[in-house]
Amino acid sequence: MDQYDVVIIGGGPGGYVAAIRCAQLGLRTACVDNWRNKQGKPALGGACLNVGCIPSKALLDSSHHYHQIQHELAAHGIKVQGATMDVPAMIARKDGIVHTLTDGIALLFAKHKIDWLQGHGQLLGNNQVEVIPPDAAGKRDEKNRHTVAAKNIIIATGSVSAPHPLAAVDGNLIVDSTGALEFAETPKRLGIIGAGVIAVELGSVWRRLGAQVEMLARGNAFLPRVEEQLAAEAYRLFTAQGLSIRLGAQIKQVRTSKKQVTLVYEDKEGEHKLTLDRLLVATGRQPNTTGLNADGAGIKLDEQGFIAVDEHCRTSLPGIYAIGDVVRGPMLAHKASEEGIAVAERIAGQRSEVSYTTIPWVIYTSPEIAWVGKTSQELRADGVDFREGMFPFSANGRARALGEAHGMVKILADARTDRILGAHILGPQASEMIAEAVTAMEFHASAEDIARTTHAHPTLSEAFREAALAVDRRAIHR
Ligand code: FAD
Ligand code: NAI
Repeated sequence: MDQYDVVIIGGGPGGYVAAIRCAQLGLRTACVDNWRNKQGKPALGGACLNVGCIPSKALLDSSHHYHQIQHELAAHGIKVQGATMDVPAMIARKDGIVHTLTDGIALLFAKHKIDWLQGHGQLLGNNQVEVIPPDAAGKRDEKNRHTVAAKNIIIATGSVSAPHPLAAVDGNLIVDSTGALEFAETPKRLGIIGAGVIAVELGSVWRRLGAQVEMLARGNAFLPRVEEQLAAEAYRLFTAQGLSIRLGAQIKQVRTSKKQVTLVYEDKEGEHKLTLDRLLVATGRQPNTTGLNADGAGIKLDEQGFIAVDEHCRTSLPGIYAIGDVVRGPMLAHKASEEGIAVAERIAGQRSEVSYTTIPWVIYTSPEIAWVGKTSQELRADGVDFREGMFPFSANGRARALGEAHGMVKILADARTDRILGAHILGPQASEMIAEAVTAMEFHASAEDIARTTHAHPTLSEAFREAALAVDRRAIHR
């Protein structure tokens, strides 16, 4: 039986990053992963690289270019006539990016001498993992099951789309996010159950390519995790882009015919019927412990089915850790990776920790939404006395030059100490700008620290500094 220092189950951004860090630290490492790509071939990178972060951003970028040509470039004096969209070419480009990146992880594994055990991993107890490889047809090759032993095991099995009781995914008319990355043509009417992160990102992709998008949100608040002033402005901007967002919508019935989906929902105005070409179910994701035998091996799960862990990702069994989407906390690739690094370093005897209070969020719409730390609604609920500084991109020279002057930056600082408690950006390149806020918070910066830091001119990041100045009511350009 092969003996390792560490066996990782799952090769997503949690598992593969943990594997690389373990190998860097001199630990003999194997990573068991059962992902199959569109061609039925094993591929590393998990949901993030194959059907998540990367492909969704590729389609967001392609559709953004098309939208700019159609609606925005004329203002720059660029006149384009007869631009058309080749959806299969866009999907092929996305697939190419995914292949390059997933193949890159395989190369990194080879470079670091990490054993990639292709197949399904199952916990056996006694720090052993059984690997069931696929046969030539991709089915479980039961005859070639084999067992590996490890001093430490890291579970990084990720998450899967949550099912909806009335809208079973058929991969054709009713899809989850994976299906919505693969449409061969732009649907005329795309319905989306949910109005969360996947709904607004993938809804934007297909809206920009011409689909009529109908988003149905169960709750009455739009993007409730987002700073409320920014969520309200995003709602206004997205609605103006043609995304129909119906709040407080209860799904009553979903029926499919040969080519269409009929959906009945109820809101405060009564019952409504929609006829759709495609329906995307985007009602959240759930932890993936299918076939892992966590229970059988004696590992505790919490009430929602996540593997229960402490602040160092230790499960209820010694030597077994769990990271990423399969444990509590935000379901984000960078959170999974940070946990993977911290666990690898703890196994190697270091005292690493994850800074859970400074994990940034980004929603890659246009404009983008990014934030770190607390929102004002959370601070009010916690009874924290805070001051806020807001600066609009309409008063930022670079945003005006770009022609993307929507949105704002908001900084929330402790009223007594001035320490930054939260930073919120709705605007161009918010995904890149948020890194400054994360760094500032990691270094326990005050709003005054940012206000006294020189930012290059003309840049979008000047809006961040102006928001810090605005905390003390001394923004220059407002
Ligand atoms: P996963 O990436 O889910 O990887 C788990 C791996 O384990 C998979 O390869 C799976 O096949 C394998 N596995 C599971 N069980 C077993 C088993 N028993 N044996 C062997 N292998 C097993 N996050 C961001 O931060 N930014 C984004 O822009 C972003 N965009 C997203 C867009 C979409 C459409 C979706 C769906 C998600 C997006 N996410 C994004 C979320 C991100 O993909 C996840 O947070 C991230 O992939 C979690 O990483 P993980 O390593 O925990 O799990
Ligand atoms: P989400 O939690 O963001 O949104 C779910 C939506 O579905 C909400 O509007 C909710 O009210 C609604 N909903 C839930 N159950 C419902 C039901 N039964 N009927 C009707 N509506 C219902 O989840 P989403 O968009 O599916 O994304 C899953 C996760 O993937 C995100 O939470 C995030 O962690 C990750 N992700 C991250 C991205 C990023 O970082 N940019 C992009 C895409 C996904």
